Amino acid sequence: MNDQQVRRPWVVGVSGASGTPYAASVIRGLLAAGEAVDLVVSRAARLTILDETGISFRDAHWRDDLAAWTGVEDLSGVRHWPAGDFAAGPSSGSYPAKGMLVVPATTGAVAGIALGLSKDLLQRVASVTLKERRPLVVCLRETPLNGVTLKHLVELDAQGAVVLPASPGFYAGGSTARELVDFVAGRVLDAVGVPHALYRRWEGELGGAVKAPGRAG
Ligand SMILES: Cc1cc2nc3c(=O)[nH]c(=O)nc-3n(C[C@H](O)[C@H](O)[C@H](O)COP(=O)(O)O)c2cc1C
Repeated sequence: MNDQQVRRPWVVGVSGASGTPYAASVIRGLLAAGEAVDLVVSRAARLTILDETGISFRDAHWRDDLAAWTGVEDLSGVRHWPAGDFAAGPSSGSYPAKGMLVVPATTGAVAGIALGLSKDLLQRVASVTLKERRPLVVCLRETPLNGVTLKHLVELDAQGAVVLPASPGFYAGGSTARELVDFVAGRVLDAVGVPHALYRRWEGELGGAVKAPGRAG
């Protein structure tokens, strides 16, 4: 296999914050762009996926569960790694990952990544991503934020991560929860240069959102 044929996935790390629809939208967006995805779901994220979707995410049946969660039938571009598997491919810097998107990110994941704890595969891959100087996007979901988390976010920024709060903008004309979720997911993909059509971009015209075609009146 020559270098051009090597599979170069984005690692999507899903931690146990509210906001599992953001992860589903990012995964859909990556696959729609023809990108490969390596998926790591933290133990706590199983609780949020169950709470927010009713789906019990199982390592042994991840393909069925991911299809039910994302609505994507063709998951041939996805590889799944259990959160406790420290021997997983992306736990090494020699694995040809393009980078990592942690979405949604808990305050615990933010702390663990900022401090380099590597307490599970998700945090280990984030540390590897930083040491390899690859793109790392951390999409935090928590409010309000305490001082410790704010310090950890500054530390992540200093280490080169993109800190991207799950904070939908309303200028894109989104009026449904799905559109607001897709806005955040689109900004995550923007941060790593993956093309998408998840939200309507600002075009320099005030009031453009109100005139957006198909917008509910
Ligand atoms: C239903 C539910 C919602 C949660 N929402 C959040 C959240 O929005 N942000 C957050 O930082 N933690 C949230 N938590 C707490 C985290 O899951 C918990 O701190 C966990 O230890 C994080 O582990 P992880 O970073 O390994 O996924 C939530 C927990 C549950 C059960």
